[in-house]
Amino acid sequence: MLFLRLKLVILCGCCLLASAFNVIAQSKNSKIASIENQASLSSTAQTLALMPFPAELSLKEGKFRLATSSAIQIQGNPHQRLYSAANRFLRSVGNNTGLHFGQKHLTPQDTVLLPSIFVNCKRAGKVEFGENESYALTITPEKITIQAETDIGAIRGLSTLAQLVTSDADGYYIPVLVVNDKPRFPWRGLMLDVARHFFSVDIVKRQLDLLEAVKMNVLHLHLSDDQGFRLESKLFPKLHEMGSDGQYFTQEEMRGIIRYADERGIRIIPEFDLPGHSTSWFIGYPEFSSGSTATFGGPYKLERRFGARTNPVMNPIKEETYTFLDGFFKEMCELFPDEYFHIGGDENNGRQWAANPDIQAYMKANNLPTKEALQNYFNKRLLGILTKNNKKMMGWDEIFVEGVPKSIMIQSWQGKEALYKAARQGYTALLSHGYYIDLNQSTEFHYLNEPLPDSVKLSSVEAKLIAGGEATMWSEWVDKDILDSRIWPRTAAIAERLWSKSGQNNVVDMYRRLDAISMLLEEKGSTHERNVPVLLRRLVQSPQIPFPNESDVKPLQNLIEVLETVKEYKRGQLLGTQNYSTFLPLTSIPDVVRPDSRTARHFRATMKRYLQTRTNPTLAEASEADKAVLIRHLQLWKDNHTPFVRLLETAQRLRDLEEHSLLLSMLSQVSLDALSMLENNIPATAQWKEITMLLILRAKQPRAFTEIMIIPAVEDLAKAVSGK
Ligand code: ACM
Repeated sequence: MLFLRLKLVILCGCCLLASAFNVIAQSKNSKIASIENQASLSSTAQTLALMPFPAELSLKEGKFRLATSSAIQIQGNPHQRLYSAANRFLRSVGNNTGLHFGQKHLTPQDTVLLPSIFVNCKRAGKVEFGENESYALTITPEKITIQAETDIGAIRGLSTLAQLVTSDADGYYIPVLVVNDKPRFPWRGLMLDVARHFFSVDIVKRQLDLLEAVKMNVLHLHLSDDQGFRLESKLFPKLHEMGSDGQYFTQEEMRGIIRYADERGIRIIPEFDLPGHSTSWFIGYPEFSSGSTATFGGPYKLERRFGARTNPVMNPIKEETYTFLDGFFKEMCELFPDEYFHIGGDENNGRQWAANPDIQAYMKANNLPTKEALQNYFNKRLLGILTKNNKKMMGWDEIFVEGVPKSIMIQSWQGKEALYKAARQGYTALLSHGYYIDLNQSTEFHYLNEPLPDSVKLSSVEAKLIAGGEATMWSEWVDKDILDSRIWPRTAAIAERLWSKSGQNNVVDMYRRLDAISMLLEEKGSTHERNVPVLLRRLVQSPQIPFPNESDVKPLQNLIEVLETVKEYKRGQLLGTQNYSTFLPLTSIPDVVRPDSRTARHFRATMKRYLQTRTNPTLAEASEADKAVLIRHLQLWKDNHTPFVRLLETAQRLRDLEEHSLLLSMLSQVSLDALSMLENNIPATAQWKEITMLLILRAKQPRAFTEIMIIPAVEDLAKAVSGK
């Protein structure tokens, strides 16, 4: 305590609060402290944890017992991919339950002696837009049946079945029930930006496993941008050789990714972003840029910064550009089987066009008065190339200009209005606005981002043109160690928004199910939880603590568990464009901290519930249990500052967190006091209110690019004790 007091005085600006804090600390109520450790944060009801939740489900009495003898029989006219899916199902359930199934590896040639899981589909599905993914799942105590039109529907049924496996004292079982399920939207995807940070084949395949688990059916790869060109071109090898720092997919690797996706009923959509976001193309081929000098504005270098809108842009007035793109897209259209091809089209600032006299003259001569008109001319030429190669064109909002052919698809990132406008004019459109998972927003925020709210008036034909949506994982702030923690588990909730009925939107229930799904995703390989200790150890490691153990990292862990990284574009703004760049190590505090802090969320919910129930005698027991949970947390955070400060003696990189740690401790102390005052019906003094208000105000400021997420709970409590 003495140490804590000294630190309080040292931290400038906190002095007033610090001295007041000491007064409050001494008046701590010991009665409250004595009832800590009496309850856990949440009582996890043993109910179904499906995500996305099926369209129709009817739960009955009874259990299908899983045993080592449980065996799958595939029937009907399946594609080979259903056998792979069934084998994955067996291995995954085996890993989760420890059951060593007698059935080893299913092939069409096997005869299954006593099957109890029947998977039946009428025809081989096609991994393409709009394919039938519906299925029916019937579970009785004796057998399980999946019935589907296509093997892709059957694979979706297997994903549901995997989520239903649960346990009791007698072992593992699947509850008896009937499911009739189909997706609400046919396009449910994840966009992964492999250009700003590159991700290896294994990491991409891992995402495909995870997407399959939550029934998503599109992986959109953003393959080129100012910072990198990430796919081998045999025709124009200087693209990947000079535009990637050696970090690119070979075509053979890409074929492997496409095959892997196909086995899971997932489409791969390639995106090459043009005409802007294209610096990486011009390292090897400056002649296709819009630079007007003898060197075409070059020599070009890979862009290392983010957030600065760089100028290089494809030259739309040269026929040579289209000859080049004709060859390039032909090569890529042959590689990628999907009918859709994404050409980007976003954020072209047009500066290079404005500075090039030839381009300006061309615009005048051809009645193209604006950069948008010129870009539209470019897009139409690209559309011709893609159409010739039997592809449909898609792009971001910016490609949607008056008069573009109805065959294109618009991906809306700037706002929903553009989405509805596109649909009203007869265009197919996808929603990504509100699904930007790089912006550190809560799962709830994304979950409630309804593509078709009641307030929007669209005819049924127009509504059908909203094909679905994509979570967008832009990669400025992610590398291999933290990628999964930004995608998962939040994307599972987006998957539900796009698969399940619009009325499936209870946030509390979503979070309950998300916890279970998070574990399932771990089993499928996601590193969103398991990498945290690795990152924490790295932050704490020093010559004095060469291999930090759990207790060494605990004070840091306690603190970061209630922090979230600043949201939206704030981190880049705080950092400035010079430092906001490709090689910034993503191993520091805001990287280790994860979006949507589970601990803080539970704490806020517990506080709300406690304040609502504390005067209700019929809920006295539950309310006491909630209070005990609150106290246990507050005590932990209050006492965490001293060991945290001790860590700073060796862990330099944590210094920026010192004030957060202190403020968390102080917030916890005033909260303990407030609980005590409530308990004893003692009204808050004017001095207490003033101090608490100042403290909250100060604690709300971001530090180390992170924010303390229990503050709303402290505010609720302060209001209650102030009689508001
Ligand atoms: C985008 O976020 N520029 C599509």
